[in-house]
Order: sequence, then structure tokens, then C-alpha cells
Amino acid sequence: MKARDIAPGDQVHQGDPVSVDRYTPGARLNHWITAASLVLLAVSGLTLFHPSLYFLTELFGGGQWTRAIHPWIGVVLFFSFLGLFLRFWRLNLWERNDSLWMTKLRDVLANREESDEALTEVGKYNAGQKVVFWSMSILIIVLISSGLVIWDQYFSGYTTLEQKQIAVLVHSLAAIVTICVWIVHVYAAIWVRGTISAMTRGRVTGGWAWRHHRKWLRELVTGKPGDRKGGVTPAE
Ligand code: HEM
Repeated sequence: MKARDIAPGDQVHQGDPVSVDRYTPGARLNHWITAASLVLLAVSGLTLFHPSLYFLTELFGGGQWTRAIHPWIGVVLFFSFLGLFLRFWRLNLWERNDSLWMTKLRDVLANREESDEALTEVGKYNAGQKVVFWSMSILIIVLISSGLVIWDQYFSGYTTLEQKQIAVLVHSLAAIVTICVWIVHVYAAIWVRGTISAMTRGRVTGGWAWRHHRKWLRELVTGKPGDRKGGVTPAE
């Protein structure tokens, strides 16, 4: 049977070859600009972090260019992530079921989600995704604010040497944690089979939605919002 789109009122059962809209083209573009800028920031930042990685500055046209471009990519990341934040913050609000989900993380990692209702009756995002979302939100604020303090080209006169030294330390630590959170995010997207297509083609299979985000799928099919205000949440 050919895959078909799901619409409110449709009967959907596990295994149905339906496809479900998850992200609009705008959200995907926003996401991939964010992803690209974070990768470029990490590479350009690492070249400034340790001399053994200096050779990577060639990718940006040499040391001077890397130094000049790095903060600007940070500005792009900040505004691009702000776009994602404004789109998704509501869907990442913590709910009671999320704390329960966290206590059963082992079952998720062992692919035993089916065995527990707390793990299947999940809205658009699970607790793990929400932790990544809020961690990224905080880290990007820390990175941009500490980055501005050490952006000598424009702001050198506004802060003291001591403040800059603290900012360099905070900036480096936040960057390391950000890279770790990013690795978790990408690993999870690959680990949970069928997730990548959400961000590449904007849609997922009905089976994927049933297995990992059943509450979201139910809301989508019935057209009734769940227990949170803000209505049904189809593709954002
Ligand atoms: C290049 C590597 C990346 C890959 C392969 C990737 C992949 C994905 C995928 C597949 C999804 C859809 C998950 C779902 O709908 O269940 C997603 C969602 C998302 N990604 Fe990424 N991503 C990457 C980088 C980033 C970066 C660098 C950020 C932010 C700094 C980011 C922020 C988000 C956000 C906010 C969502 C929506 C989920 C939520 O709000 O919790 N992604 N990503």
C-alpha cells in the first residue's frame, strides 16, 4: 500500500503505511542553519583553543580570518537558535510524565520502549529531547554573553582584563559542554531509527510516531489537543 498523509479523523493503527508531517520547510531550514553554524563555530573555535588544531584555520582562509569570522558565526547561531526557540519552547515545557520517562531511560536505550506506557504516551518531544533543548538554550546564552565580553574588535573598552579572563574560561567550558550536548542530540537522532527523515523530509512514518510519540499522534489523528493549552501540534 502506498504511504498516505494523515488527517484529523483518520483511523491509524500500528504498522499502517501512513506518513505524518512533523516539520514545515521553514522549521527545517531554520534547524539546518543552526546546525551548520554550530559545526562551523565548533571547528573555528577549536582552532583558537589549541595550537595543535591551528591547521584547521586553513578552512577559513587563515588565522586572522578565523578569528574575525568566529564571533560572527556565533551571532548567526544565536539568532538562528532564537528562531528554533520561539518555534519549539512551548512543546518542550516539562510535564509530569517527563520525570517518569527520565527514570526509565535505561529501557529507552535498550529499545524496550514498548513495554511501558510512560515511554510510549509521549507528546511531540520526549524528556530527553527536552533536556537537550533547555541545555542548548542556556548554553547558547552563556556562549554569546561571554563571547561578547572577549570580542575585542568591538567591545574591548567595555570590560576589564579580569572580566575577560573569567569570560574566556566560561566561554571555553560552555563550548565543551555544548559540543557534548550536540553529540548526544545527533547520536539520539541516529539511534532512534526513522528520526532523521523528520528533519530532512519533514515527515515520519506513522509507525515511528506510534512507537515514540503516541500522544502526539493521537492528538494529530483525533484533532483534539492533549492536556496542555495551545491546540493540536502538527508540523511546526
Ligand atoms: C548537524 C547535526 C544535527 C543533526 C543530524 C540534527 C538532527 C535533528 C533531528 C533528526 C531532529 C528531529 C527530532 C524529532 O523531531 O524528534 C532535530 C530536532 C531539533 N534539533 Fe537538531 N540536529 C543537528 C544539530 C542541531 C543543533 C546544532 C541544534 C541547536 C543548537 C539543534 C537543535 C534542534 C532542536 C531545537 C530540535 C527540535 C527538537 C526539540 O525542540 O526538542 N540541532 N535535530
